[in-house]
Amino acid sequence: MNTGIKRYRDSQISMAFKTLVALSALAMAVVAAPSHTVTCSKGRTASNAVCCKWFEVLDDINGEDGLFDGGECGEETHESLRLTFHDAIGFSQFKPANVGGGGADGSIMAHAEIETNFHANNGVDEIVEAQRPIAIKHGVSFGDFIQFAGAVGVSNCVGGPRLQFFAGRANFSFPAPDKTVPEPSDSVNAILKRMGEAGFSANEVVDLLASHSVAAQDHVDPTINGSPFDSTPSTFDAQFFVETLLKGTAFPGNGPNVGEVKSPLAGEFRLQSDFAIARDPRTACEWQSFVDNHDLMVSRFEKAMAKLSTLGQNTHFLTDCSEVIPVPKKAKSKVATLPAGKTKKDIEASCKHSPFPSLKTDPGPTTSVPPVPPS
Ligand code: HEM
Ligand SMILES: *[C@@H]1O[C@H](CO)[C@@H](O)[C@H](O)[C@H]1NC(C)=O
Repeated sequence: MNTGIKRYRDSQISMAFKTLVALSALAMAVVAAPSHTVTCSKGRTASNAVCCKWFEVLDDINGEDGLFDGGECGEETHESLRLTFHDAIGFSQFKPANVGGGGADGSIMAHAEIETNFHANNGVDEIVEAQRPIAIKHGVSFGDFIQFAGAVGVSNCVGGPRLQFFAGRANFSFPAPDKTVPEPSDSVNAILKRMGEAGFSANEVVDLLASHSVAAQDHVDPTINGSPFDSTPSTFDAQFFVETLLKGTAFPGNGPNVGEVKSPLAGEFRLQSDFAIARDPRTACEWQSFVDNHDLMVSRFEKAMAKLSTLGQNTHFLTDCSEVIPVPKKAKSKVATLPAGKTKKDIEASCKHSPFPSLKTDPGPTTSVPPVPPS
């Protein structure tokens, strides 16, 4: 036999043998490992092999040059959390996907040229365009990416929730119709009706609004970009639920604007819808229940977000990859405080069943709330 061919054949045999050894080693490793655990990059484990690629997406978006600038709870995080809502809420229990919207399906990105022109989506085009190339780079569906980015983003906030993440949404969607996203100038009736159509109770609307604890506005009053809804926009705490109940005293910018009411602190912004939901008899007790119970606020938010992030999806066809979501830093305090200079007398207590709890007042002089810096 020609030596060249023989050497080739030998090397083929030896390669085949090596592969066989490697395969049986792998088979043994699989047998030895605890049931259904796969090892992904950097020794991280997942319950299902399809989850491994999400660790790569995590490393990307939370990396130093990533979307969240090294794991911050800053502007991109806030916008990404808002986007989970604006994509998903285009949904109705009573209409098919091609009429009522398909829910958490990525339609806001796939049909951005339509949906970002809706009035309620003012400003979301920025985060949609920031996220799109990352989703494409990793070959994941737009619907999956939007919910993943929101879950990772809010895990960067101190005291934050660890949201469930399911992967496997199809990369196909119809554009959601206009008028599915609530506006801050809408009445409580209108907001509860719209949210009810999507399957949320009045209490669950309050639970979802814990998101406004890590939030700011740019477009209701464009003269004060980054004006936050509470004094701690990088911390997922209950300050939002206390501060929205304080008597409003002034407009932080050039208000009143449509959807804006007076806020209690210089620099702080108050949406009319938050003001009204905090005081409505249908929602006031759930609202108040969070001011001295951070754990309750977080667990209710996690539960409501599990629902929001899979609206319109059949979870039996999705894979639970929640283990990829980082564990957030613990909150320093489980109980909110009254901002410096405020007392219980400034609280417009609105829950008829139970008195407003006694909270400590922050020391020092009254301060103004700085804007969230653009990143
Ligand atoms: C129920 C009715 C809701 C209304 C009327 C409402 C309205 C608004 C408005 C007007 C803004 C300011 C946008 C801007 O000017 O840039 C905002 C910000 C925000 N919203 Fe909502 N929202 C609602 C519910 C939700 C829900 C359910 C979530 C998430 C689960 C959410 C998450 C956020 C976040 C994180 C921001 C801050 C965005 C940023 O800082 O860039 N909102 N919301
Ligand atoms: C998802 O669809 C968009 C077009 O809407 C496309 O640009 C993107 O590459 C698709 N992603 C995957 C993973 O198929």
